[in-house]
Amino acid sequence: MCGIVGYVGQRNATGVIVSGLQRLEYRGYDSAGVALYSSHRKALVRVRSVGKIAALVSRIEKDVPDQDGLDYTLGIGHTRWATHGAPTEANAHPHFSRSGEFAVAHNGIIENYVALKERLVQKGYVFTSETDTEVLAHLIEECYEGDLHRAVAAALEQVEGTYGIAVISSRHPGLIVAARKGSPIAIGVGSGETIVASDISAIINYTKKVVFLNDEDIATITAEGLDISSLKNVPVSRELTHIDWSLGQIEKGGFEHFMLKEIHEQPQALANAIRGRLLEKDGTTHLGGIRMTSAEIARIRHITIAACGTSYYAGMVGKYFFEDLAGLSTDIEQAAEFRYRNPIIERDTLLLAISQSGETADTIEAVREGMRKGATVLGICNVVGSTIARETERGVYLHAGPEIGVASTKAFSAQVAVLAMLAIVFGRARRLSGSTGRDLVRELLRAPEVAAAALEQEPAIKVIAEKYARAEHMFFLGRGYMYPVALEGALKLKEISYIHAEGYHAAELKHGPIALLDEHVPVVVAVPDLHGKSKTISNMQECRARSSPVIAIATAGDDEVNRYSNDVIRVPRCLDFLTPIPVVIVEQLLAYHIAKCRGCPIDQPRNLAKSVTVE
Ligand code: M6R
Repeated sequence: MCGIVGYVGQRNATGVIVSGLQRLEYRGYDSAGVALYSSHRKALVRVRSVGKIAALVSRIEKDVPDQDGLDYTLGIGHTRWATHGAPTEANAHPHFSRSGEFAVAHNGIIENYVALKERLVQKGYVFTSETDTEVLAHLIEECYEGDLHRAVAAALEQVEGTYGIAVISSRHPGLIVAARKGSPIAIGVGSGETIVASDISAIINYTKKVVFLNDEDIATITAEGLDISSLKNVPVSRELTHIDWSLGQIEKGGFEHFMLKEIHEQPQALANAIRGRLLEKDGTTHLGGIRMTSAEIARIRHITIAACGTSYYAGMVGKYFFEDLAGLSTDIEQAAEFRYRNPIIERDTLLLAISQSGETADTIEAVREGMRKGATVLGICNVVGSTIARETERGVYLHAGPEIGVASTKAFSAQVAVLAMLAIVFGRARRLSGSTGRDLVRELLRAPEVAAAALEQEPAIKVIAEKYARAEHMFFLGRGYMYPVALEGALKLKEISYIHAEGYHAAELKHGPIALLDEHVPVVVAVPDLHGKSKTISNMQECRARSSPVIAIATAGDDEVNRYSNDVIRVPRCLDFLTPIPVVIVEQLLAYHIAKCRGCPIDQPRNLAKSVTVE
C-alpha cells in the first residue's frame, strides 16, 4: 500500500520520480507528493496534491520552477493509500521536519506514534498533519548530529511498527537514506544513478540490477551505489538480483485497462508457469525451487495453506488438489487468522504461503509463525525477490509476469497451475500411479489452449454484462472445484463494479441466503459437465423458482443446462482439476465488462490497493 520512489543521479529527478509514481499508482492513489533538493536554492522544495498522480503533475508544472532543467537531481516521491488521516494535501507525503531540512516518504504504520508525538509536542515540535509518518521527520531532525544515516537509524530505534522509508536532507544534497521493516524497499543500481522504490516496476525503466533490503536494513544511497548496514550500524551485504521483467510487460500494450490486458495474458502466463516443469514421460512435475527430496516429500503428512483474498481462493482449489491427487489432508487458512490463533503445526506439516506480491503483511507473518513452529514452509509467489520469496528460501515462482491491475487475475490461474503441479509431485511420491500422473500432466499442458478458448467467449460475455450491469446484488454459486471459483467470481465483481456480490456453495444457498433472491438478483452458476452437475442444476431450479435470472457457465456442447438458465457462457471441456481456469476467466471478463458498463475506475477501484502491506 502506498508507493515510494527516490532518485539520485544526473537526470532531472522530477521526471524519474513522477514516472515511477505513475507506475506505482496501483498501490495507492488518494494523494501524492514529491520533495526535491534544489541545488540553486540549496533547500528542499515540496509539491503535494490530493487525488491521482495527474493532479500532482499539474501542480508540479505550475509550482516547480526549472522542472526541465537539472536543478533537481535528488528527490523522493510518494503515492498514498490513507491509513492515518484523511486524503488531504496536509496528510500527503513527503513529510518535512520542523526546519524543512529533512523529508520523509513512508509506507507502513508507526504504531507508537501517539506517544512519540506527545513527547515531540512537549519539546516544541509543531505538527502539520494527522499522519503517523510526520513523527519520523521530526525524530530524524531531533537525532541529527551531522550524519543522516545515523540520525535515521537513531529515529527508527524509537519506532514500533512497520516502515519502508526514503529520507533526504538539504544538508546532504547527493544522498538518500532508505530503510525497511515490514514494507518492501528495492534499490535499482544504474550507471551514475540510483533509484529507490517500494516496487521494482518504478525501477526497471532505468536498470534491471536491483538490491532488496531485508527488515531492519538501512541503506545509504548515492548516485554511485549504496552501502547497507543494520540499525546497529553493522555492515551487511545483500545480493544484486537481475530482474527480467520488460518495460512492455508493465505497460497497457493497447488495452484499455491493465486488468483486461492481464486477463488476456493468461494463456501466456500459464505457458510460462508450466514451462520446463512438466515431465510427461514420468507422469510428474519438476519444481526445482521446492528443494525437497522424494523421501522428504513422502514424509509430509499434512498441508496447511495460508493466504489472503484471491490467493486464498486459489489455495482453496489447492486443498482439493492435495486431497484428490495426493491423498494429503489439507487445511486452508486466512493468513490473518492463522497468525493470531495458535495453529497446530505437527511434525511433517508443510505450510504453503501463497501471495502474488509476496508482500502481504498477514501472509508474511503466517510464514514467520510457521517457521517458528518448525513447519517446512514453501512460498508460492509471483514477484521475484519479494519478502515471502526470500524468507521462505524455497518455493515456486508463478512466472506470470507483472500484475498491475488491483484485481488479481492472471495470478489466480498461474497459482492454480502451480498448485496442480505441486499436488502431482506430492501425489507421485505417495499414491498416484504413473499412468494417472501422465494423464494429469497431459491435461495441464492444455492449460494455455483452454484459457485461450475461454477468452474467445468475450463478445458473448460483453452482451450478458450489459444486460445485468444495473443489478445491485448478485450471487455466485458452485460446488466441488467450482465452489472456490464462485467465491473468487464474487470477489472480482464486488471489488471493481461495487455491486454487492456473494459467493456460496450451491447447496448452502437454501440454508439462508435464498431469502434474498428475487427477479432483481442475478445468480451466476458455475456448472461444468462434471461430477455433481445434476445437483447444481437442482440449485439452479431453486433460483429460478424465486424469479432470479440464472447465468450459467457451462461446458461447450452441454445443452442440458440451457433450459435452466437465462444466459449461458461456454467453457471448453477439460478434466475437473483444470476447470477452475476457464471458469474463472469467464468470471473475470464478466466482472470487467459489468464494471466498464457502470463506468467504474477498473484498475484503481475505490478504497483498494494492490498490495496490502499493513494488517
Ligand atoms: O499479493 P497477494 O496475493 O498476497 O494479495 C492478496 C490479496 O490482497 C489480493 O488477492 C486481493 O484480494 C486482490 N485485490 C484480489 O483481486
